Amino acid sequence: MNVLMISPGYPAEMTFFTRGLAAAGASVIGVGDQPAPALPVIARDAMSHYIAVGSLAAEEAVVATVRALARQERIDRVECLWEPYMLLAARLREELDLPGLTVTQTVPFRDKEQMKRLIDAAGLRTPRHASTETVAGVWAAADRLGFPLIVKPIAGGGSADTYRAGSVTELNAILPMLRHVPQVSVEEFVEAEEFTYDTICAGGRVLFENISWYRPRPLLNKTHEWISPIDITLRDLDAPELQGGRALGAAVLKALEFRDGFTHMEWYRKADGEVVFGEIAARPPGGRMVDLMNYATDADLFSAWAEAVTHGRISQPIERRYNAASIFKRAKGAGRITHYEGLDRLLAEFGVQAAPVRRLTPSAAQPVLGLILIIRGTSGSRTGNSAVHAELVRINVRLTAIEKVLTDIE
Ligand SMILES: Nc1ncnc2c1ncn2[C@@H]1O[C@H](COP(=O)(O)OP(=O)(O)OP(=O)(O)O)[C@@H](O)[C@H]1O
Ligand SMILES: [Mg+2]
Repeated sequence: MNVLMISPGYPAEMTFFTRGLAAAGASVIGVGDQPAPALPVIARDAMSHYIAVGSLAAEEAVVATVRALARQERIDRVECLWEPYMLLAARLREELDLPGLTVTQTVPFRDKEQMKRLIDAAGLRTPRHASTETVAGVWAAADRLGFPLIVKPIAGGGSADTYRAGSVTELNAILPMLRHVPQVSVEEFVEAEEFTYDTICAGGRVLFENISWYRPRPLLNKTHEWISPIDITLRDLDAPELQGGRALGAAVLKALEFRDGFTHMEWYRKADGEVVFGEIAARPPGGRMVDLMNYATDADLFSAWAEAVTHGRISQPIERRYNAASIFKRAKGAGRITHYEGLDRLLAEFGVQAAPVRRLTPSAAQPVLGLILIIRGTSGSRTGNSAVHAELVRINVRLTAIEKVLTDIE
């Protein structure tokens, strides 16, 4: 099978999906805007062929290049796991008459308003919402939805330009900051815990599912620089408090007619147990969450995805053995992180609990994210999800207390 992989070496995680495709027996043709010498070795070794295009954003030029390629070489599938080019991949599938998400099927995974409309139509619970391109439209939505509410871009990422308004005064203060956003989604603010529901599907069947718990809610990370966010990939998906989200996730996939590949959904669980849809993407989660899934299962989900999209199955056993969590230790202030101190002491203190650590290279221009600490429970541990959280809070408090874990912000 010949698979055309968009951006096979960037972002860094794509490398492992590309390798997975080769391991599944596919012949991988890469199309990306990295010059060939800049490709990570793992990605380069996994490809039979790589075409460097000037820019993946130049859609017409990329389509022309791929059409020319398709006259020489059979292409069986087009894959893309990077959000900005999901629509390009869909367009290429249509051009080449290949299976997988079409443009029309991809849009609801990108446009938060269309997404919620389809999910509403299936009778599922979304935050009450409106979309608008004008300031007057935001006020009209506020009248209808009441406070508190959320205003955010229709196709956002990383909580960018996302604001909570608790009152007319707060909304007044927020509106000028949204002037550069052409279209916004206005939503009822859902006071709740936030989780993910991630899957790998084939032929419309869920072959692998995952739930992670965001601590605290992502919007708070954006507003409070001192917070070191934690993502916990939960071992026990049968826990009663997760069943509503699991059922919602399965229903959303049906409503959007998703069939093959990775999905990443976010959902809310209110204190009264009600579950509410957040958003969904037709790709894996970022933030090293696929790594976390691998730590939680001792499996290789990069390869599992590749096997699912090429052969419609996952043959490696996947057993949820551990709770696995990452702590993104952030530096305070803007600048460049030059070195860390105190980390070895911290790891010694937590022994086997704290396993791998990713140190971002001191040269990386990273104003906030400094360090990722991945922690997992011991094998066979039956600790419940909340016990794990308590332990993480303990670790995170210590992490925060060791002032010099991150130092020297230039
Ligand atoms: N209706 C809502 N009620 C409460 N909180 C919300 C609501 N909408 C968004 N948020 C908060 O803002 C965060 C970012 O919103 P959302 O997930 O829609 O956008 P995003 O920027 O696309 O996120 P991502 O980085 O996951 O792509 C959410 O994780 C949540 O904390
Ligand atoms: Mg989100």
